Amino acid sequence: MQEPQHVAMIMDGNGRWAKARFLPRVAGHARGVRRVRDVVECCIERNIRFLTLFAFSTENWKRPEEEVSDLMGLFASALEGEINKLWRNGVRLRVIGDLGRFSPRLQTLIASAEARTAANERLTLTVAANYGGQWDIQQAFRGWLRDRLATAEDIQSLPDPGDIDLRPYLSMGYAPDPDLVIRTGGEQRISNFLLWQTAYAELYFTDTLWPDFDGRAMGQALAWFAQRERRFGQTGQQVRIVAC
Ligand code: FPP
Repeated sequence: MQEPQHVAMIMDGNGRWAKARFLPRVAGHARGVRRVRDVVECCIERNIRFLTLFAFSTENWKRPEEEVSDLMGLFASALEGEINKLWRNGVRLRVIGDLGRFSPRLQTLIASAEARTAANERLTLTVAANYGGQWDIQQAFRGWLRDRLATAEDIQSLPDPGDIDLRPYLSMGYAPDPDLVIRTGGEQRISNFLLWQTAYAELYFTDTLWPDFDGRAMGQALAWFAQRERRFGQTGQQVRIVAC
């Protein structure tokens, strides 16, 4: 059975889950943290090597101040409360995004969680926080240009677009591109998530709200992925010949 090496997730629907229960939105986010545990466990069981979660986008700062603050609190307490378990389970935690806007305390928690789990190899759990796919390409280009400017002769001629290799400069230069992107909550869009890296990803959209996305729902998404024929621009016939 075809299994993805890398699954990326847009965790949508926390607010609607809470509203349907006459609860504050933060209750939906808190329940969402539980689902993060479930999908991490599922990925470990299924030998999936990379799991990337879109926890907070560059646009999410536009939310009411109280909700932003609740999300920061949840993020900090999840880091403090879960890191030992992640470490014991062989999970390496990485956080990508423009982290400079977070409080010094949160930045310290992130740095120490990343350092503590740096030697783990079973599953790399990447949390995208204050992340945007357009920002990622911009910052990659800046890194690429900085390296070129260091060698004066390179400024004289611009390379062909195809020779500009931004991949090592992107936030997830350490991981293969996602094979599967799952978006919960009924919307069918990428919302400025991993724009470069999802060029050939299979996109799975489900109406299930994130707080309801349990191990069974994850199993259904993986079963759907297993049926997909991945062509990467080739014809179906070419791919099937290579596969046999
Ligand atoms: C989108 O639902 C969800 C978010 C913006 C936050 C996701 C955060 C978590 C699941 C908790 C923290 C995660 C980690 C990794 C510790 P929404 O609020 O847009 O839902 P709605 O569309 O129903 O309003």
